[in-house]
Amino acid sequence: MSKLTESESARLHPETLALSYGFDPFLSEGAIKPPVFLTSTFAFHKAAEGKKFFAWAHGEGKPRAKHAMGLIYSRINNPNLEILEDRLALWEGMKDAYSFASGMAAIATTLLATHRPGDEMIVCAPVYGGTDGLIHHFLREFGITAHFIRAGIDAPAQAERFITPKTRSIFVESPANPNNRLTDIGALKALALRHEPAPPAGSAGRILIMVDNTMAGPVFAHPARVGADIVLYSATKFIGGHSDVVGGVALANDPAILTAIAHHRAMLGGMPNPYTAWLLTRSLETLKIRAEQQQANAIRAAAFLAAHPKVRKVCYLGLLTPADPEFAIYQKQQSGPGSLISFYIKGGEKEAFAFLDHLKLFRLAVSLGSTESLAQHPASMTHSGLTPGDKLLGEITDDLIRLSIGIEHADDLIWDLDQALAEV
Ligand SMILES: Cc1ncc(COP(=O)(O)O)c(C=O)c1O
Repeated sequence: MSKLTESESARLHPETLALSYGFDPFLSEGAIKPPVFLTSTFAFHKAAEGKKFFAWAHGEGKPRAKHAMGLIYSRINNPNLEILEDRLALWEGMKDAYSFASGMAAIATTLLATHRPGDEMIVCAPVYGGTDGLIHHFLREFGITAHFIRAGIDAPAQAERFITPKTRSIFVESPANPNNRLTDIGALKALALRHEPAPPAGSAGRILIMVDNTMAGPVFAHPARVGADIVLYSATKFIGGHSDVVGGVALANDPAILTAIAHHRAMLGGMPNPYTAWLLTRSLETLKIRAEQQQANAIRAAAFLAAHPKVRKVCYLGLLTPADPEFAIYQKQQSGPGSLISFYIKGGEKEAFAFLDHLKLFRLAVSLGSTESLAQHPASMTHSGLTPGDKLLGEITDDLIRLSIGIEHADDLIWDLDQALAEV
């Protein structure tokens, strides 16, 4: 048993609780760290207990709360997944979380859990290439129609034009991958509420605001505080943070949505394995210090790039000024600019590739949020599958380069950027 009461835990910070919350050493031989529960199935004391747990898993009877339910089978529940999910919910300040085998599993399962054939979505572009493909091609075959609009300052006004009685969600990345564009999540929620002024108590309402917060990570933005009903992550990025694990998370407050996500995860089988959940739990312990060091380095790297004569434009939240239309959104939604920088090099693909090929410290690889710095070319890599229209909406052109800044010494990173730009 934890010595902390629930009210004491509620007063503590997530970076404190990330080290202990939700795990009782004395249920595991006094082990300070949770063991990996490498078991596919769990024993019941009596047949009646098994019957009761299954009934709860199907949503029948009481209690339905995740923690009150007994362990059954690792596709349905497992201690490593539950410890991770408890700590992720704390970081986000949300009621509960479900972990997944990848960010795409989290996004796909959550969309299938919340949408039905005939429903419509509004998507603020750009979104990650995999998400774009899922919505454009896969969900369309299931009868879910999406309207793509441009993310950013005028997204709520554009979204309003597409709202119909069939609209089920507005999906947004803010900041958006790859160009850090910000969208006002609170304004999207206000728009949803204008179309359903009094949703039933505790319910997220008809039009769900779904935010993929992967680019900011859980340290610098908390979308639920400004109106998100569902928050999604590729845990492969900042949460995992070491480029050695693939995972995903979906968080919500509405109990009906949480139950739907749990059921769909159990049916589609997209949960992580216990070792993946264990690795992600370990990574959460250092999430804040990693993210802060990465951000400190990114602030310096972005300033260097912004002053470089071969760079046309830098998209970095730390460079926004009160004169920028997105600055007010930044102040509302972000506690820091994070560590993703996109920049447009003078020239086109030839110059972008010359720069990428001459980097020595930065690895030429997709993904982001890890301890090592990474560089890639969205137009031909992460976002190459986008329709030409969506590339245009997202301003993903051949001269765009995305950098994910790691924890190396900032002087060394700037030296690498400088020497690679000199080769262009
Ligand atoms: C913003 C964003 N969302 C979702 C994903 C998909 O995550 P995963 O690769 O873990 O499936 C990615 C991957 O790059 C991403 O950048």
